[in-house]
Amino acid sequence: MEMMIRGRRNRRSAAVRGLVRENRLAVEDLILPVFFHADAEEVDISSMPGCTRWSVEGLIGEAKRVYEMGIRAMVLFPKIDDALKSADGSECGNDEGLVPQVIRAIKAAVPGMCVITDVALDPYSSDGHDGLVVRGCDGELKILNDETVEVLCEQALCHARAGADIVAPSDMMDGRIGAIRVALDEAGFEEVGIMAYTAKYASAFYGPFRGALDSAPKEGDKKTYQMDPGNVREAVRELLMDEEEGADVVMVKPAGPYLDVIARLRDETTLPIAAYQVSGEYLMIKAACGSGWLDEKAVVMESLLGIKRAGADMILTYFAKDVAQWLKD
Ligand code: PBG
Repeated sequence: MEMMIRGRRNRRSAAVRGLVRENRLAVEDLILPVFFHADAEEVDISSMPGCTRWSVEGLIGEAKRVYEMGIRAMVLFPKIDDALKSADGSECGNDEGLVPQVIRAIKAAVPGMCVITDVALDPYSSDGHDGLVVRGCDGELKILNDETVEVLCEQALCHARAGADIVAPSDMMDGRIGAIRVALDEAGFEEVGIMAYTAKYASAFYGPFRGALDSAPKEGDKKTYQMDPGNVREAVRELLMDEEEGADVVMVKPAGPYLDVIARLRDETTLPIAAYQVSGEYLMIKAACGSGWLDEKAVVMESLLGIKRAGADMILTYFAKDVAQWLKD
């Protein structure tokens, strides 16, 4: 055949493929989400095989180990004692609480680690919602927006006082990015960054996470604040608001089923984009590989490269440690 153009020339050897490769995964891209509680013993999380709910001491050891492997960022998810949960979630602003204690301990043990904290009420709320709950006269639960934002500002300030590098509001209340930015600046924390969960969908893929933290809503669902899976223009609208309100990084969550949303935001913003490969995405890969049906390393690397190709700069993934090791090998 006479052909001027042959695509296969650029695929003929590993060397050539390396030269023409457009996207790569690096250990610097990774953010490791970690679970922990106030108890002294460590628990295997049954809904997320391979993940641990650490004691404070165990978590410090883990932070040191993953730092050695090249991981430079962690995001903290506490399991709060039931006795400390309340309708107003006030434990979230306690400077002596579990999260501030862990932030201080990690920053003391591993100063180079970028400590990112989740800002939302669900671990602290006896209702299991990300915001404050009232029951309307129609009997329906309502999530209060502006009152919640006030509490979220207290929570963010509490994390900043303890030394958090970045706060990550995952609650999807309106106006929280701007309010948290003002609260941080007024308190002298202008260097603390905000990673906004900009397009956080009301997803069934969060199930294993809620199992890990026992944080599922007691009643109702999160559809009045998290986004409808059918929408992408709405993600752009959320992006424009978060940009205007001072977000430093914007996030899409989940990642794999929402690659088009990542790509769309990539076209619309100059801000860095984070993508969260959530617990259900993790569990699907683990389950399929555990039964021998898929090759775990290959599938994990491909899933993360796909997320980068879509336009993400950084990825939150429960596979971060494995990936750091595989990238080294
Ligand atoms: C809570 C929060 C959730 C996740 C991160 N922060 C759960 C939820 O919104 O119900 C999910 C993460 C995962 O599934 O891996 N604000």
